[in-house]
Amino acid sequence: MEVIEILQEVSKRIYQNVKHLAGTEDAAGDFGRGAGGDISRNIDIIAENTVLDYLKEIKFDCVVLGEECGRVELSQNPKGFVIMDAIDGSANSVRGVPFFCSSLAFATENRLSSITDGVITDLSSGEMYRASKNKGAFWNDNKIQVHDKDPIYKIVGINTSGATPELMQKLHPIFEQHNHTRHFGANALEMAMFARGLMDIYIDLRKKIRIQDIAAGYLIVKEAGGLLLDENFESLDADLSYQTRVSFIAAANQKILDDIFAEVK
Ligand code: IPD
Ligand code: CA
Repeated sequence: MEVIEILQEVSKRIYQNVKHLAGTEDAAGDFGRGAGGDISRNIDIIAENTVLDYLKEIKFDCVVLGEECGRVELSQNPKGFVIMDAIDGSANSVRGVPFFCSSLAFATENRLSSITDGVITDLSSGEMYRASKNKGAFWNDNKIQVHDKDPIYKIVGINTSGATPELMQKLHPIFEQHNHTRHFGANALEMAMFARGLMDIYIDLRKKIRIQDIAAGYLIVKEAGGLLLDENFESLDADLSYQTRVSFIAAANQKILDDIFAEVK
């Protein structure tokens, strides 16, 4: 089985196991703080266990880097890392807001740039986004590309959740311009939608995104032809440590990037 097939299969299993849970009291059960620093909810734990059980069942030689469970070594001879955010958009999933997903990626080394495969599954609909290095990005069976043309409506995804007053002040011109700003609450799914061309740019400069929230989106955006930059407008890369937090901008092309940031100081 190819790595991408493993990630796809396990994503389908997560969907089966959590699709009736979102918005129920059962989803919310509190399991204390996970490795990523947030409270682990029952729905997070069920989704993570689905992944761990399947990887054990097929004896996949890897180290899992889970948002809740932390580092789990499933083999003495790992082929690489499975970077797992089994539920991205946990708050939405617990409240029943139909915008949350699973995000699974495989990396051969300790860096984002070594990611070879990524799968993001919309857990409200079961729709799947995937990419393998140099093989393109897909939404279900359709090849996808970022929206590399002049948009009729300029859709600007921008994550402002918990942003500081200083950051809000800095980003103010983006809100003031004639943009249609959007924020849905699940970073990975927003990156997937950007890759599919539903947004022209997606911005998160809060320095809060964990490796688990971004790993699969990293490859899907790149394979869909997007620019993926850090806060200094350099190509985004980072190590896979639990301490790492990133800021990033995913842009369909240089022109939209320049337009949107023209007034940002
Ligand atoms: C969160 C979501 C959210 C973003 C947070 C992340 P989680 O991930 O991606 O959109 O604003 O920074 O932590 O906790 O639901 O996996
Ligand atoms: Ca999560």
